[in-house]
Amino acid sequence: LKLGVLASGSGSNFEAIANAIQNGQLNAQIQVLIYNQPQAYAAVRAANWNVPSVLLNHRDYNSREDLDRQIVQTLRQYNVEFVVMAGWMRLVTQVLIDAFPHRIINIHPSLLPSFKGVRAVEQALAAGVKITGCTVHLVSLEMDSGPILIQAAVPIMPDDTPEKLHARIQLQEHQILPQAIALTAQKLQALNTTS
Ligand code: GRF
Repeated sequence: LKLGVLASGSGSNFEAIANAIQNGQLNAQIQVLIYNQPQAYAAVRAANWNVPSVLLNHRDYNSREDLDRQIVQTLRQYNVEFVVMAGWMRLVTQVLIDAFPHRIINIHPSLLPSFKGVRAVEQALAAGVKITGCTVHLVSLEMDSGPILIQAAVPIMPDDTPEKLHARIQLQEHQILPQAIALTAQKLQALNTTS
């Protein structure tokens, strides 16, 4: 399965996918990393893995649709079949969804449908819940709302800070994101062989 990864930040989930491929846990290739923040550390990781990376800075586009059109063009250029949003901090439009129907997934640091949107870890702490976690889901137009593929639960400790809790959640993200890709790859393969 030929993957395109979209990231805005550190890229530890990008690294988890690359490691899963190298370990043979995931039968896929990362064709390209697209990132929107010039200083995103994800780009450094991509270079270390010899994965091409393309900066598409959202500030250079007049609309979300224009950015998504450029993303689609780039993904096509790199023969991407399946798109992984790994800390991609932009709202998607129909342009991207229509180009990769049922082929875009996202990772979010909460047990959806709780705590959608930004600062999900802080939201969980503020709510006083004792268990939170992470979710991989199919991407739909509405933010953090598509069909859920895999979740992992993470306990909240009495002395947690957002940083400590996020680190604990990320350990689980790095497990379930490659698993979700493998799961979806199997399903797509089954569809292809029966059609
Ligand atoms: C992850 O916690 C992800 O759930 C959220 O952004 C973070 C990205 O982390 N959407 P990284 O850039 O993969 O390290």
